[in-house]
Amino acid sequence: MRLQNQVAIITGSANGIGYAAVERFAEEGAQVILADYDEVTGTEAAKQLKEKGYDVTFIHVNVADRESVQQLIGQTVKTYGGIDILVNNAGITRDAMLSKMDPADFQFVLDVNVNGVFNCTQIVLPHLIEKGKGKIINTSSISGVYGNVGQTNYAASKAAVIGMTKSWAKELGRKGINVNAVAPGFTRTSMVEKMPDKVIQQMTSIISLQRLALPKDIANAYLFLASSESDYVHGHVLHVDGGIMM
Ligand code: CAA
Ligand code: NAI
Repeated sequence: MRLQNQVAIITGSANGIGYAAVERFAEEGAQVILADYDEVTGTEAAKQLKEKGYDVTFIHVNVADRESVQQLIGQTVKTYGGIDILVNNAGITRDAMLSKMDPADFQFVLDVNVNGVFNCTQIVLPHLIEKGKGKIINTSSISGVYGNVGQTNYAASKAAVIGMTKSWAKELGRKGINVNAVAPGFTRTSMVEKMPDKVIQQMTSIISLQRLALPKDIANAYLFLASSESDYVHGHVLHVDGGIMM
């Protein structure tokens, strides 16, 4: 039980990587807040995990909306008495070539992927400082590290996540709070399902392990960074991408 008695909030966890992380954290004894914008899927997902005997609670949140994030954090603290781990996993894409990208889609992706991470971390922070310890895990992407065709908005947002991670590591280390990021490669979720088949095949062919990641591959990296096993890992960007680029 690597997360026994730990209270973890995982955003964007009704589906995909976040959902796999909720299950993985709960298996390791954590009390997990499944926080998502999608109320129907989130409620059902939490119900299924509770039926398996896990301590999982769904709370609706729009990470881009500070008031909504205040409610998420307030409700979590009220229910569990504190917070130990924040996984900033919620993220969206609105892919288009630069020449065709709608400026509203550029802004929307930044609102969720950048402001969302900022909002959740800033609002959780006093509760971690109060405990004198904590773990913050941010979700970047290989697109934020290397760039990607059709992802001006998304790559910018995921590069920003790396910048925030390193800045917060420098600010918060002295407060006992670990801050790290995971940069997943292409992972089998609805996000990748939207890609043209031709591009998926092309991407798979350049992955050294010759397969896309499974959500669990990324959840295991979150788990490592949330557990005490990574206490001396700080300000790091962990690439979990099957060796797509080295
Ligand atoms: N890498 C390399 N080439 C790509 C590419 C990519 N990621 N995406 C598109 N291309 C190529 C296409 O194969 C096509 O090449 P040809 O002209 O030789 O046929 C060319 O770019 C133009 O593409 P489209 O004809 O599809 O142009 P479009 O305007 O209709 O659509 C698009 C553009 C919306 C960007 C679409 O191509 C697309 O969805 N591409 C995938 C983008 C992508 O990789 N998204 C990642 C989603 S998963 C994710 O975001 C998770 C993560 O963190 C990695
Ligand atoms: P997904 O689309 O399967 O799940 C994302 C979840 O976030 C959904 O449940 C959605 O309802 C929720 N969400 C969206 N906007 C929200 C908001 N404003 N507030 C709260 N919740 C919101 O996506 P996936 O693939 O599981 O992605 C998880 C994270 O991993 C994202 O940050 C994504 O950018 C990142 N990532 C994904 C990769 C992939 O190939 N799937 C690769 C690299 C990074």
